[in-house]
Formats: sequence, structure tokens, C-alpha cells
Amino acid sequence: MKKVFVTRQIAEEALEILRKNAHVEVHSGDLPSQRDELMEQIKNAHGLVTMLTDRIDAEIISRGEKLVVISNVAVGYDNIDVEAATRRGVYVTNTPGVLDDATADLAFALLLAIARRIPEADSFIRLGLWKGWEPNLLLGSDLRDKTLGIIGLGRIGSEVAKRGKCFKMNVVYYQPQRDPEKETSIGVRYASLEELLSISDYVSLHVPLTSETRGMMGRKEINKMKKTAYLINTSRGPIVNEEALYEALKEERIKGAALDVFAKEPIDLKNPLLKIKNVVITPHIGSATVETRTRMAVLAAENTTKALKNEIPPSLVNPQVLEYRRNPSKM
Ligand code: DGY
Repeated sequence: MKKVFVTRQIAEEALEILRKNAHVEVHSGDLPSQRDELMEQIKNAHGLVTMLTDRIDAEIISRGEKLVVISNVAVGYDNIDVEAATRRGVYVTNTPGVLDDATADLAFALLLAIARRIPEADSFIRLGLWKGWEPNLLLGSDLRDKTLGIIGLGRIGSEVAKRGKCFKMNVVYYQPQRDPEKETSIGVRYASLEELLSISDYVSLHVPLTSETRGMMGRKEINKMKKTAYLINTSRGPIVNEEALYEALKEERIKGAALDVFAKEPIDLKNPLLKIKNVVITPHIGSATVETRTRMAVLAAENTTKALKNEIPPSLVNPQVLEYRRNPSKM
């Protein structure tokens, strides 16, 4: 029987799908699987169901002599060396489409939280500072008629854009390739990165982490933002240069930031961003709802079982692997 190793406890529905097709072992405990454990488990595994916290590099992949599929329970797959997997004929899959609303909801919740100073207002009461209604207490910023700049109008970015439209915002977007169909269907305008940064009141990031996007919000880009603008990041931490962001916030060159993702996770409690009042932070919970995480796990299980049957999995990220699998001599 084929063997599948799952690196964290996932929804039971998903485990049931896997168990129908393979012998399944699940890592127990509250912390990610350690490298030693992965190195050991991969030796006999045909399938590996991974989380974004598992670094699946070429060395680990090379140990997987029987490995057929690495199935990430995330839409992002920057934790996997896809090229190394492809060269060994290993399918790599992700979970797109099932987490768009949940992640867009969180991006918008963060946008509202920073604009309306919700965490600050909550602490204000708990600290016993509320003396009564005041005309100028905790004034925030409107959303109506403000410009929302979306960087990356993919599935999640599009959902954030739609939410922005419902809140009567002007929505602009930037990505290397224009999308005229979405411009019409959602009602968004294309802008160059430079224009988007200089006109947006809220900038929300929705790009995958790649060698092109790493550090794309650097000092130069942040400095192009309005003094009154907010930055929202629910994509991946390394897309933003945190040092440049900290400086801009400290020097009040932008108004605030709301961040769900960080260069290093968990964030170091000494990270100076934690000292800034106009920063709202959450611990990488973009897709963290019961329904969404269940759908993600089920899709990951379906991807895994398809691959184990040597059928093309629904969310294959490395279609080049098909060529390697057809011609094993290329591996
Ligand atoms: C993803 O799927 O990439 C998300 O970051 C997980 O929450």
C-alpha cells in the first residue's frame, strides 16, 4: 500500500479521503514537523502533504525515492523547491480557489481595523481610558471615495477589489499584465505601479512570493506612497522590506500598516514594528476559517490521491513534470 505523510493535523474529512487510498501517518503536536522527521518520513513516502511552514528543499526531495507528490495545503508554494521536484518527476500541487473569500475578508478586515483604529479603540477601553463620548476621540479615515490600490489582481486580489467597490471606493490595480476582462467586470482601472502607489489611500498586496516579487515593496516604493496612506499585506512577508516600512512609519511618511505576514514567522517580539501604534498585526490567518481550512485540506487530499493513481491532479503547479514522467530518462 502507498504511504502518505501529513506534516500537521488537518481536517478529518481530508484524512478520510487519504486513508481510502493509502496508509496515512500524521505528524502530531502543535509545532511543525522537524527537518529530521521529514528526512526520515520522506524515505518511504509516496505522498507528502505539507504546510507553508515546511521547507521542502532539494535535499529533502532527493531522499524521496518513492515520492510521487508534494501536496501543499496553501495557495502559495514558495516553501517548496518546485524545480527540484519537477526534475525528479514529482507532482507539486497547491489549493487555489478555495481560500479566496476568506483571505479577501481578512485583508478587508485589516483595512477596516487600521482605518477605523479598532485594536487601538479596544485597548483604549480595556486600559480604563474612556471617560465618555468625545467629538474628536479616535478619529479614523473614511473608505468611501478613497482609492484602493491592489497589487496583483489574481483570485484573491479580485475579491478584495470587489469588496472595495461595495464600500464605494475607487479601485485601481497593478500587475505586469493588464486584465481588460476584469477591468470591465469588476470596474477597476489599470495603473502603473508608480501611479498606484502615488494615488492610493490603501495599498493591498496580493502577489505570490517569487524572485521577482521578493522585496518589491522596498524603500523606493514605500516612499512613493501618500503620507496619509495605509499598507495592507496578507500575501507573504518577504514581499515588503520591513526595515523600510518601519522607517516610513516611524518618520510618519505613511499613515499605517496592517500585516498578516512577516519576513520571519513567528515574528520576533523584538521586531520594532510591534512598537508602532499605527500597525495592526495578525499571525498569518488569511485563510483561517473552519470552512476554508477544511476545503483546503480536502483539495490537498484530492490532489494527493489523484497523483498516487498517476492521474493529473486538479491543482498541479508544475505541468512540466508530465514530460519528465513520460520520459524518465530525462530525470
Ligand atoms: C496560503 O494559502 O498561501 C495562505 O497564506 C495560507 O493561509
